[in-house]
Amino acid sequence: MFDHPDYDGHEKVLMVEDAQSGLRAIIAVHSTVMGPAAGGCRLWSYTTGEAALSDALKLSRGMSYKNAMADLPFGGGKAVILGPVAPERREAVLEAFGRAVESLNGAYITAEDVGVNVADMQTVARTTRFVSGLAGAEGRSGGDPSPYTARGVRVGIEAAVRAQLGRAEVAGLAIAVQGLGHVGMYLCQELHELGANLVVADINPARVDEAVARFGARAVSVDDVLTQDVDVVAPCALGGAISEYVARYVKAKIVAGAANNQLATPEAGRILAERGVLYAPDYVINAGGIIMVSGEISGDNDTALTLQRVDAIGTRLDAIFATAKAENVITNEVADRMARAKIAAGKTVKAPVPAVA
Ligand code: NAI
Repeated sequence: MFDHPDYDGHEKVLMVEDAQSGLRAIIAVHSTVMGPAAGGCRLWSYTTGEAALSDALKLSRGMSYKNAMADLPFGGGKAVILGPVAPERREAVLEAFGRAVESLNGAYITAEDVGVNVADMQTVARTTRFVSGLAGAEGRSGGDPSPYTARGVRVGIEAAVRAQLGRAEVAGLAIAVQGLGHVGMYLCQELHELGANLVVADINPARVDEAVARFGARAVSVDDVLTQDVDVVAPCALGGAISEYVARYVKAKIVAGAANNQLATPEAGRILAERGVLYAPDYVINAGGIIMVSGEISGDNDTALTLQRVDAIGTRLDAIFATAKAENVITNEVADRMARAKIAAGKTVKAPVPAVA
């Protein structure tokens, strides 16, 4: 573990095997320096246990950076449940997962991620107090974080368009969205309402049909969506979408989307920068969901206030883009530097642990 390429001083990594339900999961707590480690739970069919471990390690570190950059009183953690999980075992698996989360005694607070929905988190809540992303009351944000993530990405795309294209709005721009899941579809809706022309792809044809019917989007193949002749590409499927190849051939001037760990390698980020493509660091632009979840955990979740906090992603990106330009540094390196500085400062002034209902 300590020699694993993705190990980054993680405080705790819990491997869980529950024979009765069949649960196999990994919970990675990267850092609790800024507060309890908050981050979603992903249910995914990994090809190997090693791939699952690598994902948990990378995603949890990303959450430390994401929470620090969003000025939230949380550290970073992430859980992965190794799929597939048969429908008739799902409840038992999620309850067993809740017990594992509970055993960490608040060091990790879970929520939805890819493959896990609000109903699943309600099942997890039967066996642990340390869960969020449950349904919100009237006038309060809560439940599915995806619309908030999508709003943050839309605001981030607008910031990138200001910085890179010198335009105040996205109306009339061509925007390619890869992945029409929870976030991608809400993002399409926001961009469509603002007058953008959408180009879309998903491995699930039903999602593509929906985007074509609702937003007049143009469907393209999943292999070509990132290299379309458009102004912006928004990776909203899984991580690693921007390979070195894609970075070399992307025609858009902006890469700004919801997916975590979009750059397959650090080199891909360098190639984008060399080619003059502006990259919005993923964990800054996709923080809308965790900003909402954070309010839900602390009980400070008035909807209007949550939306205001999500919209601050735009100003945060304005600052990153301006620093990157002024210092001729790659945007994701600017963001990493800022996040590390915030965490280092948090080592001296530790954030208070919020109460969890
Ligand atoms: P989701 O599972 O609902 O949607 C993913 C979509 O991508 C699915 O429709 C799937 O069919 C599609 N897809 C998978 N592989 C594809 C490929 N090669 N080409 C095209 N489409 C493909 O997931 P969700 O919640 O929408 O999240 C999307 C991304 O955003 C993930 O990387 C997630 O980690 C990230 N994210 C999500 C947040 C949230 O609030 N849901 C918060 C922050 C990040």
